[in-house]
Amino acid sequence: MKKFVCRFPQPATSTPIYCGSDILHQCLPADLYGKYSSVLAVVDETVYRLHRLLLSSTLSGVRVYRFPSGERYKTHRQLFALLEWLMSNQADRRSLLIAIGGGVVTDITGLAASCYMRGIDTILIPTTLLGQIDAAIGGKTAINYKGIKNIIGSFHPPRLVVCDQHFLETLPRRSIKDGLVEAVKLFAAYDAESFARYSARIAGLIKGEGLETLVADAVRLKVEIVNRDPWEQGLRRVLNFGHTTGHAYETLTCSSHGRAIALGMLVALRLSRLHLDLSAADHDKIGEAILSIYRRYNTNRVTPQTLWQKIKHDKKCVGREISYILVDKPGSYREKPITYQQFKRAWYDTREWYSR
Ligand SMILES: NC(=O)c1ccc[n+]([C@@H]2O[C@H](COP(=O)([O-])OP(=O)(O)OC[C@H]3O[C@@H](n4cnc5c(N)ncnc54)[C@H](O)[C@@H]3O)[C@@H](O)[C@H]2O)c1
Repeated sequence: MKKFVCRFPQPATSTPIYCGSDILHQCLPADLYGKYSSVLAVVDETVYRLHRLLLSSTLSGVRVYRFPSGERYKTHRQLFALLEWLMSNQADRRSLLIAIGGGVVTDITGLAASCYMRGIDTILIPTTLLGQIDAAIGGKTAINYKGIKNIIGSFHPPRLVVCDQHFLETLPRRSIKDGLVEAVKLFAAYDAESFARYSARIAGLIKGEGLETLVADAVRLKVEIVNRDPWEQGLRRVLNFGHTTGHAYETLTCSSHGRAIALGMLVALRLSRLHLDLSAADHDKIGEAILSIYRRYNTNRVTPQTLWQKIKHDKKCVGREISYILVDKPGSYREKPITYQQFKRAWYDTREWYSR
């Protein structure tokens, strides 16, 4: 088992993050139920069904909210349903809220916990690859609103995160791929060594081979980034690589998060080639790693104009230009303002490149 510690300055919080196999019981503090006035849990309903046995012992005596599965439930309606459920169960300031599920459940539960009585403690138990390497690490919470992803949210560091590989055994391949896209994003933009190590193993990782070390490496790197820039003033923005175009494409096409971010990274790579010093060889190396996860993209349903309109609503819009995270070589990123004309050219070039 590996342990990492994520630190937040205000209020000073240290979040231990444990990564390993079959570690859930040993990582949950023995005095959990004595320490809090009540313990409640929000569990993704698919996870609840697939891991009933493990969860029934972990959550014995805990009131459980079974949260409907999927991104379309990451809404203000579900947030208020959760808050009302906390009220009806007389949760108070000393209650603990545990989130068990993918990024949707950890994001919305974290937001509910940060609002309820101005903040109650949470423990996150991410059950998807994406949740373990990204969504549950770093204290960000959010819901989507009026078609804009993560537009309402907060920073609310959890008290503990447990990334237990046991949950990944039931993950569908599509969900593993979505997590791998975020891992490739992190490695390609931030850590050349990890990029070289894992981009050569993608076929095996998609089959679930070697995920434990990948999770530990990705968590280590994300914790390093968050500890250096908890409020996303600079370095942490590296994690937005692929997300500017990706979020817009995801919202407009209802494509999976991973496929959308993969396409977003391909566009960012092309912009990097056009406007930074990214070599053709490095462009193709990173691009091929992405294509070995998702090869096909349906781009007929969007135009550069519709995408740009959506991107302009994005949090990263500055005047007429959009701030993009680009890479100049594997493991090295730069932030650059991009105009619509530059985006349009990169969009068409990208489509031509991956359709070769
Ligand atoms: N807070 C952050 O910093 C951050 C970072 C990255 C992504 N996110 C958010 O994370 C979300 C995506 O997360 P996700 O990919 O985990 O999606 P998700 O939570 O929708 O989970 C994907 C699917 O997998 C199912 N599932 C979960 N665990 C399972 C298991 N162990 N076995 C079988 N099925 C399981 C769920 O029911 C769901 O249908 C997005 O909303 C994204 O915005 C947040």
